[in-house]
Amino acid sequence: MTTTSARTCGEQFAVVRLPEFTGADREEVCGGVPDPYQIEGLVMAWRPKREHFGIRREGRLVAHAGLVTVPVSVAGRRTEAVGLGGVIVAPGLRGQGLARAVVTAAMDHARGMGPDAGLLFCWPELMPVYEALGWRELEEHVRVDQPDGPVTMPMRTMWTPLREGVGWPPGPVHLLSLPF
Ligand SMILES: CC(C)(COP(=O)(O)OP(=O)(O)OC[C@H]1O[C@@H](n2cnc3c(N)ncnc32)[C@H](O)[C@@H]1OP(=O)(O)O)[C@@H](O)C(=O)NCCC(=O)NCCS
Repeated sequence: MTTTSARTCGEQFAVVRLPEFTGADREEVCGGVPDPYQIEGLVMAWRPKREHFGIRREGRLVAHAGLVTVPVSVAGRRTEAVGLGGVIVAPGLRGQGLARAVVTAAMDHARGMGPDAGLLFCWPELMPVYEALGWRELEEHVRVDQPDGPVTMPMRTMWTPLREGVGWPPGPVHLLSLPF
């Protein structure tokens, strides 16, 4: 089912909902590139995403973004956020607006999921990508749950409002979940 489309660089990308995003799907997108998210060195446990969005070209899956609702404590107050993760575009097709299209479609969907804000983790060099898509850095150190207890997240954290007028409250942030 096509959920939405976005026009970038003069080209129309149809974004579809995917029932899942398996290891084989990831291989289809990134062609067997080892550690495409550059996270294997972290030795962290990750939470699977629940909702999946993709772009196909000539039948091949070439882009993906996933969402999952997660509990989070901000300054001691428990709330929820929509986590964005698993964002990936086929190596030969980067820089053409596919990430913009698939992330925009995912976040359009996220606005109907309930929480006021989206949350993601990324390496510093990818922050400009998400800034271009309306995300902002969350400068607080963020604790995230791991099987042996909470740890400080070594990646950068970014957030985006899912409703007009929403701000991220000040104070310590603890993701009450595995990161995504
Ligand atoms: C990060 C990634 C998803 C970007 O995909 P993409 O299709 O090349 O991105 P887009 O072409 O849609 O670009 C989106 C915006 O980010 C900007 N951008 C893209 N790559 C960038 C980079 N390396 N540095 C700075 N800005 C960048 C683009 O200019 C664009 O902004 P604009 O529309 O205002 O011009 C892709 O490089 C990738 O799959 N990387 C490997 C997996 C990964 O690290 N995923 C992220 C996990 S957090």
